[in-house]
Amino acid sequence: MAIITTPLVTLFASQLASTKRERLCATLRQAIAHGALKQGERLPSSRLLATDLALSRVTVEAAYQQLESEGYLTRQTGKGTFVAIKIAPPLARLTHTRQPIKLSRRGQQVVSTGGCQDPPFPYAFAAGSPELRAFPHQLWQRISATQQRRHGASVMRYGDPQGYLPLRNAIAHYLAQSRGVICQAEQVMVLTSSQQALHMLALALLDPGDQVWLENPCYPGARHAFISAGANLTPLVMDADGARVQQGQPKLIYLTPSHHYPSGVSMGLSRRLAWLNLAQAQHSWLVEDDYDSEFWYHDRPMPALQGLDRAGRVIYLGTFSKSLFPSLRLAYLVVPPALVEPLCKLRSVIDGHSALLPQAITADFIEQGHFSAHLRLMRQLYHSRRDLLLEQLHSRLAERLTPISSSGGLQLTVKLNDGDDGVLAQQARQQGLLLPRLAPLYAPSSTAQQGWILGFSALERAEIIEGVNTLSRVLYSDGQSLA
Ligand SMILES: Cc1ncc(COP(=O)(O)O)c(C=O)c1O
Repeated sequence: MAIITTPLVTLFASQLASTKRERLCATLRQAIAHGALKQGERLPSSRLLATDLALSRVTVEAAYQQLESEGYLTRQTGKGTFVAIKIAPPLARLTHTRQPIKLSRRGQQVVSTGGCQDPPFPYAFAAGSPELRAFPHQLWQRISATQQRRHGASVMRYGDPQGYLPLRNAIAHYLAQSRGVICQAEQVMVLTSSQQALHMLALALLDPGDQVWLENPCYPGARHAFISAGANLTPLVMDADGARVQQGQPKLIYLTPSHHYPSGVSMGLSRRLAWLNLAQAQHSWLVEDDYDSEFWYHDRPMPALQGLDRAGRVIYLGTFSKSLFPSLRLAYLVVPPALVEPLCKLRSVIDGHSALLPQAITADFIEQGHFSAHLRLMRQLYHSRRDLLLEQLHSRLAERLTPISSSGGLQLTVKLNDGDDGVLAQQARQQGLLLPRLAPLYAPSSTAQQGWILGFSALERAEIIEGVNTLSRVLYSDGQSLA
């Protein structure tokens, strides 16, 4: 006996596919998948179903034929159309509860880091966001239109895993001039982010159990990438000259020598030379993360460590996330020549290459001098914002907070003189204020400094003052006021 068509009419009405035939196919697939139509059951004749669904018979016939070719239905001349298969109904338990999934050991290691979180909005005082309201959007659009006109279809193709050559040239030139990096465009790789670069380096250079030395406190993105590779991490003691050199044979050393994240300490020359000696003697890779050296407010930062390397052990890392904008997804590595080919192969396996049009726009933006002009303006803007935040903290919250002076950067590290930074951060969150804690930046085995990293670069003056007002309310209403 053929089934009653009423449930099909209701199901048909809920389908979103664009043609009537596709809506009917989706209706029947769904009815079979959920057991409303059972294996062996006869479907209504095309004439009856067409009448009930207000379709033409041709449409119903076409849908039956399609589902027959897909294997859902079988048609027998003179007998009718039947459901050909049985699909196990969905397991309620599986769809409605979150069954733990068994990940690979590597998967577990990656997930155990808790992942990386970047601030999606420039809340006071989320750390690490550039000011995007002052970005030269129109100029960027003009360059984009010119690039599209000039290159047409060629910027829509697959590209070089190493990066777009004109951009690699522009980066090599910029780094030589402004950071003392010694390289050819052949050594530059364009990637989506520093995070991708760290992940790729960990994948290419580290075996599980390898020794990686990191500053303590350290940029969490770096720690997460090396934990994900199963490395053994050793925290390095920091002093006023940067990370202290110690005895041992690390496979890889991660440093932010221009501007330690988060304290802002700049590594002195003799310390730099000592690290280079160690890397050369032990055949260690030295990853120099130069993440925000564009933003200095007094003296230029020292030239990059890479420029002093005579043994080809330094891998230099930079990003446009801060100097242009984060969603651009462009960063760069400068690697010793022998590493170029393996890293390009690796990159081709991961995601191929970075999008070509943004690379072409960025190359022009740099070559036409707009990048240096933009950095000059942003330096002035961030400098005045940094000074305002410092002045507000000194004049209003000096009893509770001690800012750690730094020569540049997009965030200011402050020590909490007394109280619990976690509890206070939660109270602040309830009042719409973000206080990123220092604690997660420390190695689990060490004692964390109580305090926060306050981002200021993306905040206008009024927003900084409003943020300090809220911070002041939080600090002076927690029962720990010294007043
Ligand atoms: C030390 C350091 N490296 C790298 C980055 C991020 O760069 P990207 O957005 O290119 O991953 C940050 C961001 O705050 C950072 O602090």
